[in-house]
Amino acid sequence: MSIPGPRSLELMKRREAAIPRGLSHATPIFVARAEGAKVWDVDGNEYIDFAGGIGVQNLGHRPDGIVAAIREQLDQYIHTSVNVLPYEPYVELAEKLAAITPGHFHKKVLLVNSGAEAVENAVKIARTYTGRSAVVAFTYGFHGRTLLTMTLTGKAKPYRAGFGPLAPEIYHLPYPYAYRDPLGSQKDFGRIAADRLLELFQTQIPGDQIAAVIIEPVAGEGGFLVPPPDFMPRLREITKAHGILLIADEIQTGFGRTGKLFAVEHTQVVPDLMTVAKSLAAGLPLSAVIGRADVMDAPNVGGLGGTYAGNPLAVAAALAVLKAWDDPSYLQHAVQLGTVIQKRFAGFRDRYDIVGDVRGIGPMAALELVTSKDSAVPSTAVADFVAQYAYQHGVIVMRAGMHNHVIRTLMPLVISAEDLNQGLDILDKALEEATTRVEVR
Ligand SMILES: Cc1ncc(COP(=O)(O)O)c(C=O)c1O
Repeated sequence: MSIPGPRSLELMKRREAAIPRGLSHATPIFVARAEGAKVWDVDGNEYIDFAGGIGVQNLGHRPDGIVAAIREQLDQYIHTSVNVLPYEPYVELAEKLAAITPGHFHKKVLLVNSGAEAVENAVKIARTYTGRSAVVAFTYGFHGRTLLTMTLTGKAKPYRAGFGPLAPEIYHLPYPYAYRDPLGSQKDFGRIAADRLLELFQTQIPGDQIAAVIIEPVAGEGGFLVPPPDFMPRLREITKAHGILLIADEIQTGFGRTGKLFAVEHTQVVPDLMTVAKSLAAGLPLSAVIGRADVMDAPNVGGLGGTYAGNPLAVAAALAVLKAWDDPSYLQHAVQLGTVIQKRFAGFRDRYDIVGDVRGIGPMAALELVTSKDSAVPSTAVADFVAQYAYQHGVIVMRAGMHNHVIRTLMPLVISAEDLNQGLDILDKALEEATTRVEVR
């Protein structure tokens, strides 16, 4: 049977008539069921899932303990609004998130609904604490689709174009992108890239007017860019010296994606505030801002919150997720996955001229696709071909990068060695096919 099958095709027609085109879709496949690292479509086709609902299913689709925890909560209460009738699980989750995130100091935690909402709140908190209004973000960064978060996002199309006026007082620095930066091959590139903040103080806004610098420790949507090791420590040093808060957006990198619970753990840097979402609640909408208690307490009573903030079902799921992470075997498995993926990806780079760069940390891995190694010209066409070949042969992959030309891995970290290797074999074939088809480049 061809993919998409007849039922998916029929549903796509209805979708096109009923839903705005601005809501994109990485595949034209409609899902019927998902379990672990597998999904099945409405036509009965089975796929290995390398997308995990955009990095939300790090523990797999519908893990037993988490489904049970949600069911148990369903039988007690679904919603009272924490602003009206607070509930113990919200407090328990706040305590647990404070305990597992980097930094040995008193932390407080705010729960909200989406990644963008967490970022919005982190900025509000930083502004009230510092009494300053400017925020520095990075090109290639992604922080969401609301007015403030799309302004923080460093990718014009499709995230900012046409939606202006954008929010004021947001400045951008280049994200360290060694593969494409003219200084990328220099030994101290990390320090050079961080010191661009000092230049920004002179050319755009003095440091004492900046409330926060927000950064993804590995840029997700931007193409899985990994800063050099000396970058984050230097950024921390400069921000601290100027009274600027450092916000780590761990929405995509968190919960084992890089082989550690949080990506900043690879850097030894402790941010003042951290945002998490995605794999926090195994697919129920939940996000959090975690930070220094003195900073978190800056906004007025009533200035934070929201009707659905910290929904009880999502909180129950998150508590079960954190319980699972107490078992060290999940992280060990994630590290092993990362080793396998990175080795295979390095092999792809050696064998295929269309693979310009391979990068990532652990199982958060990416292939940057180009027309040829020599030109290094980003190739959306190659990525289109690879992604389509992949789903038509049974593996769902996601893309990233400024030209949607990077293949990224966000598979459930519980994937079996067999499914992982099968998925990687399909990607290998897709790259081989793309290489031989000149018209694709
Ligand atoms: C790093 C990062 N920040 C923020 C967001 C926004 O999250 P949401 O889509 O839940 O609003 C995302 C989503 O992909 C993300 O990857």
